[in-house]
Amino acid sequence: MASRGKFSSKLGFILAAAGSAVGLGNIWKFPFEVADGGGAAFVLIYLVFAFILCFPVMVTEIAIGRKTQKNPVGAYEALGFKKWKFLGMLGILSGILILSFYNVVAGWAFGYFLEILRGNFEIGNNFSIYIAQIWKVGIYGTVFMGVTAFTVSKGISGGIERAAKFLMPSLLIMIIGLAFYAMSLPDAGAGIVYYLVPEFSEVTFEVVYNALGQAFFSLSLGMGALITYGSYVSKSDNIINSAAWITVMDVGIAFLAGLMIFPFVSYLTNGTMENFSGGPGLIFTTLPGVFSSLGETLGIVVGSTFFLLLSFAALTSTVSLLEVPVTYVVDELKVSRKKTVWIVAILIFLIGVPSLLSNGYSSFFTNFVTYFGATSPTNFMTLVEHVGNDTFLPLGGFLITVFAAYVWGKNNLIEELSEGNPKFRDGRMKKYIDFTISYLCPVMLGIIFILTFLNRFFGINVF
Ligand code: PFF
Repeated sequence: MASRGKFSSKLGFILAAAGSAVGLGNIWKFPFEVADGGGAAFVLIYLVFAFILCFPVMVTEIAIGRKTQKNPVGAYEALGFKKWKFLGMLGILSGILILSFYNVVAGWAFGYFLEILRGNFEIGNNFSIYIAQIWKVGIYGTVFMGVTAFTVSKGISGGIERAAKFLMPSLLIMIIGLAFYAMSLPDAGAGIVYYLVPEFSEVTFEVVYNALGQAFFSLSLGMGALITYGSYVSKSDNIINSAAWITVMDVGIAFLAGLMIFPFVSYLTNGTMENFSGGPGLIFTTLPGVFSSLGETLGIVVGSTFFLLLSFAALTSTVSLLEVPVTYVVDELKVSRKKTVWIVAILIFLIGVPSLLSNGYSSFFTNFVTYFGATSPTNFMTLVEHVGNDTFLPLGGFLITVFAAYVWGKNNLIEELSEGNPKFRDGRMKKYIDFTISYLCPVMLGIIFILTFLNRFFGINVF
């Protein structure tokens, strides 16, 4: 057992798990989802989902991991439910799929850091040309996967925890600094209003389940990443308390990202908040324009800090995505971590090559499928995102709650959550976890899974 490794402290675990949670989801995805989903109304719904629905799933995942001290597949078996190993497999598959395209976007972020550092602000106007330059983005993707694999190869406390202890505080300082700076710019106020005053008329059901999908993805739930990290947590840690910290840090950083990006956009649009590019291109196309208008030196400092921040956030997440299949192979095949890490990382990189090619370089992968009823094709990378993030994660989350409440049994869950937290047994938090895990989470997550599936692949909006 000792050779599996362990987090050296509760803080180390919290920072590593918060590092997994805080990523491209917070800084790249959250702001454009807010922009598309009615501004502050989306933020409110997202916050409610994060605390009410996602928090119980998070404590469940960590508890299963800590109880069994196993990877997601081995965990179900160790609890005595061999048939449920498929759920662990689904998680590992999700991790592999997500990492395969996530690493591509992380490579863009890293590439942007280097471009802005040398004063190339034009990159914002050339985003689509840039991501089709296969050699450039391929090399940045390779570097990113290499750094990820190097970190994971150093083990839990010597690699992942150590990196998180440096990267997370640096990230926090950079994001707070940039948010204050953005809010001090002319016309920042209109951006803050756009971000924080809810426009409920724009809220549709699609916005609601996108908000849950976003909360789920952002908190790294539904694929066993936190079962994996939980398996390295000490029995004396208080899981509820750690999970509360992880949730607050994740939500807090997403919130700060909005406070930084909308004032930037408002500054660029002279307070009109019109005609800026939303969607996945928001930070890659719009922000370089902001940085350029700050003048050469300041633009380079602010812009490169931003993309360094984004790269740091992505790195602590890619590390956790890689750790899931690595822990599985190391546990089950009893092979060395170092070898496993490099082999798994290379395989996932190769699985990501079609995603890399699907942003304009190869027309086959760029126009990969046309969904039933859709008018334009979806590229390979978006397809993988729809399958991995939007389908497998809510499905995994739904099944994990069903498993915990009705198969393993909620009394066992409560027992594990009481380890390191004896007051939990008779407190209000216990009642809350009991209720949400037994009823609220399975019902809501089941519905969200079905609605998102129908929406993504068939363009059907049930409501
Ligand atoms: N939570 C990460 C983000 O918001 O970018 C993405 C992620 C990491 C999802 C790890 C799932 C996971 F297991």
